Amino acid sequence: MKIAQYHSFGNIDVVKLENINKPTIKGDEVLVAVHAASINPIDWKVREGHYADPKTDTFPKPMGWDFSGTVVEAGSQATPYKVGDEVFGLIRFPQPAGCFAEFVAAPANEIALKPASLDHEHAAGVPLVALTAWQALFATTHLKAGQKVLIHAAAGAVGQMAIQMAKYKGATVVATGSAATKAFCLSLGADEFIDYQTEKFEDKVNDVDITLDLIGKDVTIRSLKTMKPGGQLICFTQPIPSDAAKVASENNITAQFTIVSPNGEQLKQIAHLIDDQLLKTKIEKIFPLEQIKEALTLQQTGHCHGKIILKIKS
Ligand SMILES: NC(=O)c1ccc[n+]([C@@H]2O[C@H](COP(=O)([O-])OP(=O)(O)OC[C@H]3O[C@@H](n4cnc5c(N)ncnc54)[C@H](OP(=O)(O)O)[C@@H]3O)[C@@H](O)[C@H]2O)c1
Repeated sequence: MKIAQYHSFGNIDVVKLENINKPTIKGDEVLVAVHAASINPIDWKVREGHYADPKTDTFPKPMGWDFSGTVVEAGSQATPYKVGDEVFGLIRFPQPAGCFAEFVAAPANEIALKPASLDHEHAAGVPLVALTAWQALFATTHLKAGQKVLIHAAAGAVGQMAIQMAKYKGATVVATGSAATKAFCLSLGADEFIDYQTEKFEDKVNDVDITLDLIGKDVTIRSLKTMKPGGQLICFTQPIPSDAAKVASENNITAQFTIVSPNGEQLKQIAHLIDDQLLKTKIEKIFPLEQIKEALTLQQTGHCHGKIILKIKS
């Protein structure tokens, strides 16, 4: 089968489309024929070696963490899945998973039935970004109705999910993005929009309960100025810098870095929200697996407003 992988860390040139044997499955796994997979910023960050660990790294590193496809083999304990089920998932993250491939072995507890209302291309774009927003809002901060949420990079793939989930819960949402994305963020439910290229968000918003910082760098410490005592800031891009941690502590704000985890049960709930038309996903562009380098390069610009999808099986 075809798989995208690399044999050393580096730039886009290290990515190879190679032929290897189909994976074999354990009792609690299913073998999935992958119809589509999605690209995330973590793909280039890991490939460039930003999280390299010479003690544990092995090569080749198979690429890709989320997918949508059809079960073609089910282990004896891979309940409730059976051959023919259409499933989607975020698997093994942050360990290598190999979803940019024709087949992938997926742990049954990390997948869910694909939302019936989505095709595989749209479904593949959901798991990593939706679970990131879900876990931050509902498992880590326990967002309550009426709270004010500040979402940076709101037009990005995680931000879009976060706007919709926060509104679903009854929060007030302030979104930051570039001017071209204002109408889109408001259409998803954002109550206010701040253009980060022409305005200082810390001058425009206050009394924030929860900040989702999908940018990092100076945005973390600047966000703290907008927050209430008792507020919670989640940074997704880096551990909280020491200067920001000091300001957070002085102002009784909890600031933490979190990493998404695979979770089949949460994904099932996300699938229900999608089928109930309460959560939408947007595709920026679909590429065939053979054009993986173009797809990865587009995602790495950092200026996408929807998911970049690899179409693997027709
Ligand atoms: N810790 C975790 O578990 C976890 C999970 C998922 C994602 N992440 C991280 O979260 C970040 C976002 O992920 P994503 O998938 O949503 O990325 P994405 O789809 O590529 O979106 C990034 C967005 O950021 C916007 N943007 C760039 N600079 C900005 C700024 N200064 N202020 C506001 N918006 C800005 C861009 O829009 P414009 O072009 O319009 O500026 C773009 O839409 C990435 O760094 C990713 O690695 C972490």
